[in-house]
Amino acid sequence: MSNTIVVGAQWGDEGKGKIVDFLTEKTDVVVRAAGGSNAGHTVINNGTKYILHLIPSGVLWREKLCIIGNGVVIDPMGLLEEMAKLRGQGVHISPQNLRISETAHLVMPYHKALDRAREARRGANAIGTTGRGIGPAYADKVERNGLRAILLTRPQELEKQLRLRIDSNQEFIVASGVEPIDVESSVAAVLKAAEELAPFICNTAVACHEAIAQGKDLLFESAQGTYLDIDHGTYPFVTSSNTTTGGACTGSGVPPRLINRVVAVCKAYTTRVGSGPFVTENEEIGDMLHNMGREFGATTGRARRCGWLDAVLLRYAVMINGADELAITNLDGLDGLDEIKICTAYRLDGQTLQYPPSTVEDLERCEPIYESHPGWKQDLSGMKRFCDLPEKAKSYLKRIEELTKARLSLLGIGPAREQTLVV
Ligand code: GDP
Ligand code: IMO
Ligand code: MG
Repeated sequence: MSNTIVVGAQWGDEGKGKIVDFLTEKTDVVVRAAGGSNAGHTVINNGTKYILHLIPSGVLWREKLCIIGNGVVIDPMGLLEEMAKLRGQGVHISPQNLRISETAHLVMPYHKALDRAREARRGANAIGTTGRGIGPAYADKVERNGLRAILLTRPQELEKQLRLRIDSNQEFIVASGVEPIDVESSVAAVLKAAEELAPFICNTAVACHEAIAQGKDLLFESAQGTYLDIDHGTYPFVTSSNTTTGGACTGSGVPPRLINRVVAVCKAYTTRVGSGPFVTENEEIGDMLHNMGREFGATTGRARRCGWLDAVLLRYAVMINGADELAITNLDGLDGLDEIKICTAYRLDGQTLQYPPSTVEDLERCEPIYESHPGWKQDLSGMKRFCDLPEKAKSYLKRIEELTKARLSLLGIGPAREQTLVV
């Protein structure tokens, strides 16, 4: 038995989709346990680009079982749209290879409207959410006022609960200047989606444990990243779930003692979409990457903010996720640079910090302490073996291992499936 969690070590978009796709070959079941369609995971295979939001990336492997666990928040219409798009690309999706937890909470049309309404009310302090209704759906879950996926199999009760909730939220939505919910068309859309999704709904914790009992291996595909975690991230500029490894357990019903391996995914530099502090942000790197046509969000298309690799963030992410391995992606993004910097520590009020401070106010005041590395000035994207990499690239990677105390196991040198090197 080998159960692995793949977790994002930065602010999301580290390339988790690509790494999960790579690791899926040697696993049996791929599980999403947190987040919702705020996630956008890109996999490029045989020249086709797939973008996964709610469905585990493992679905691209025909014979693997995919599970959307109880910790995920599910937008039924969004999920059907995603299924239709993937089926249009030739991907098989049926209750044979996709199971949805009956206790996962639903993202309803009023959650999306509330997301927009709350962002509008935050004004200059807006979080820059993806607008997918994630925060309001998790808020209702914690408030014990949510609707769960099992209702998709009980349409009468679903309709009743849905109407009540649209009714109780409408006034706030309108008062916030957001378009009101069209009750009849929303109810009709949700009920139609319920009918289509009902065959997928089951107790996925049981499905996970049955697979484990049969000696199968599970791979957990985390969404977002460590610094978007509701507890460990740069609060309040975070998402509303536990994106770190603990979330994989609570969000699936698979206990910690059954997890054998944690792979933390990070880019060879740092990116962030949305608002919030970013100590190593660097506009020149952003311009360089954007001019290469890279670093635009897979879910919203927004240009990602970019900067140097921040080893302070990585060190802490490795620690709290219990990561033993690093998968570093996008090394090829640094191919053209003469000089590459790594932030090894922060300076704050005359002190040197090895770990990030806990408030955004302090994080915003941190000065990065950089060390400089010579660039390799060579196109890495066609490399077939790790041992063939230029020495300068190897020493950059070695230094990241030293600074984070995690072992590099996978390396991304391009977006395609075959551009992943095993170290
Ligand atoms: P995720 O949300 O963590 O799955 O990451 P995204 O898919 O949102 O963003 C990662 C982006 O980097 C996508 O456009 C990927 O196709 C791309 N990508 C992943 N790994 C590599 C890599 O090693 N090199 C290059 N050039 N692109 C990569
Ligand atoms: P993947 O899985 C990058 C960010 C949003 C915003 C904050 C809150 O593709 O790595 P939300 O809509 O969740 O309430 O937005 O979190 N965010 C992500 N950034 N990658 C993601 O997912 C993200 N999911 C949410 O941009 O700053
Ligand atoms: Mg993404």
